[in-house]
Amino acid sequence: MATPDVFGLGTPERFYSKTINSPRLNPSTKETQESLKRSFDKYLASDHASSSFGKLFHPAKHLAFETPKKVYTMEEIGYSATSGVSPIAVSEPFRLFSEEAVNIMRSEVLNDEVQEKYSYTSDIAPKQLRGYAPKHGKFVFEAWKHPETLAIISKIAGVDVVPVMDYEIGHVNLSLPRKGNDYDSKTMISEEDDTPIVGWHRDSYPFVCVLMMSDTTGMVGGETALRTGTGEIKKVRGPSMGCAVVLQGRYIDHQALRAYGGQERITMVTSFRPKSPSVRDDTVLNTVRPISNLSDLYGQTIEYQLENAESRIRQMLRNVRESMKAGATDVQSIKRFLDFEIKTMSHINDEIVDEEFVQKGHLGDVCPDAIVKRKRTE
Ligand SMILES: [Fe+2]
Repeated sequence: MATPDVFGLGTPERFYSKTINSPRLNPSTKETQESLKRSFDKYLASDHASSSFGKLFHPAKHLAFETPKKVYTMEEIGYSATSGVSPIAVSEPFRLFSEEAVNIMRSEVLNDEVQEKYSYTSDIAPKQLRGYAPKHGKFVFEAWKHPETLAIISKIAGVDVVPVMDYEIGHVNLSLPRKGNDYDSKTMISEEDDTPIVGWHRDSYPFVCVLMMSDTTGMVGGETALRTGTGEIKKVRGPSMGCAVVLQGRYIDHQALRAYGGQERITMVTSFRPKSPSVRDDTVLNTVRPISNLSDLYGQTIEYQLENAESRIRQMLRNVRESMKAGATDVQSIKRFLDFEIKTMSHINDEIVDEEFVQKGHLGDVCPDAIVKRKRTE
């Protein structure tokens, strides 16, 4: 999928072992008013406000959700239920958007200006479109931010999720027919044909939802291969047009297998993170830095990180004040809080790499398997 990383094939350190939730105390009237004002100010400045006047996405018309036939848990594929941020691993493909919705999305991403200004190429992917929404992808933006869409993704993911950041909404992978890449669908696919388009990797962000935007009639292959906790390979079939797959790709070794059939293949990948600021954040940026506008990527990353930190700090401040009033100080709680904040900030600091050290389009070091495979098939 779109966002491999170099955390390697092991499990990231589970350093955020405890959440810092504590019993909520009743706020005073003044606090309530201030909180409401902040909420309203935030609402006005938020994407809810910007999408509310767009009103392009209508769930009744544009969602066509059908429950996936099967959703695999982490334990079912040999991982610990607590190795990720949710016990859910991956879904079978399920219908998500209507044909009309996909056609509107296609018109936005195939727009000349988007193709020209937001196109990225790398040594593992010939063409990707990133960061065009909401400016040039208002419908795409609204579709992935709509509460009903998020409720669907959250239900499947087993945890309340939100898009990681606006910049990661509607990432597009484009694959157009290449000479010599035709496939005779009448013959059986052999093991040798199972060359991946992106080699074994883990994603940068906790969850992805991969939406198929092309007609897959006659297409063979295109599955996602998962390496289970016991080392076996499991394939999840690729989605057809309007259908999607949800995968906890940050914590599962996987690769995208090549599709054959000669026609265009356009997938839209939107990445998600847990909505709760108290859940650990193992996000890495190494696979997206070389194919991003760094100003947007870094700005939005630090924005959501600070929002989460602000929320945790406000909660902790309330707890500390209450405990002081009661004449007791919970040292362990303070240490857990500080430990969480130090690790979170230190982790994200490592991900904000100075621009001069970022090599545009160069992902070979991140996913060497993928670059080797791609060269072999060219
Ligand atoms: Fe991936």
